[in-house]
Amino acid sequence: MPILKLHKVNSSYGQIHVLWDVDLVVEEKSITGLIGPNGTGKSTLLKTILGTIYPSSGEIHFNGERIDRLPPKEIVKRGVVYVPEGRRVFPEMTVEENLNLGAMNPKARDEREENLREVYQIFPVLKERRHQLAGTLSGGELQFLAIGRGVMGSPQLLMIDEPSLGLSPIAINNVFETIRKINQLGKTILIVEQNVPRLLKIASYTYLMENGKIARSGPSEILEKDEYITRSYLGIL
Ligand SMILES: Nc1ncnc2c1ncn2[C@@H]1O[C@H](COP(=O)(O)OP(=O)(O)OP(=O)(O)O)[C@@H](O)[C@H]1O
Ligand SMILES: [Mg+2]
Repeated sequence: MPILKLHKVNSSYGQIHVLWDVDLVVEEKSITGLIGPNGTGKSTLLKTILGTIYPSSGEIHFNGERIDRLPPKEIVKRGVVYVPEGRRVFPEMTVEENLNLGAMNPKARDEREENLREVYQIFPVLKERRHQLAGTLSGGELQFLAIGRGVMGSPQLLMIDEPSLGLSPIAINNVFETIRKINQLGKTILIVEQNVPRLLKIASYTYLMENGKIARSGPSEILEKDEYITRSYLGIL
């Protein structure tokens, strides 16, 4: 069952047309991947789903309901959670205070304690450091915190933007491992990644975006063998 469906979605920044007739489906409880070069519109797509950018045309359906004309607050309330790139946290606040900031929507507020337990189960290091200032965490731990804060939002769809960017190889392994764990707990994940080989291993279905258009899509194990993908996106890595 699809939880999210985009139909011919177009988005612009003023005169700059970024997304062109994007069709995309995320199946419930899946990990769905989105890859593509810098500046192609991947983050714009996530922001369009979240509602911080209104599409100029097209439709977005979430859980069977049309959401593309709703304000972001309403979309968040329905369980769409966005973890932006860059692991932005509040460095002068503790780990736990940062996590609690993720529990702002009414459902997440009610489920705060349960979600916190789940986050500490997924990321034991965050439990160990819960009273520590977030500014003292390593890059990998900051990414855990950013994702953990997303889990605190009671996501029905967790959208994670480039979680591995700038991390060490070990930290990258850990981040992908925890994303898999979160998915195994029954959460649906849409993940944007530049690390194409790793993404194809974790996502069941992947979309390739080029110049704001979906250039290829399919089950990841098929894309892994796709000549265009291997030549353009796997050969160089
Ligand atoms: N706020 C904005 N105003 C104007 N143009 C923007 C804005 N944000 C992004 N763009 C432009 O839209 C295009 C798509 O940007 P976007 O951030 O979606 O790409 P991306 O695929 O996420 O890239 P990256 O891999 O570097 O994160 C780029 O050409 C970018 O310069
Ligand atoms: Mg981006």
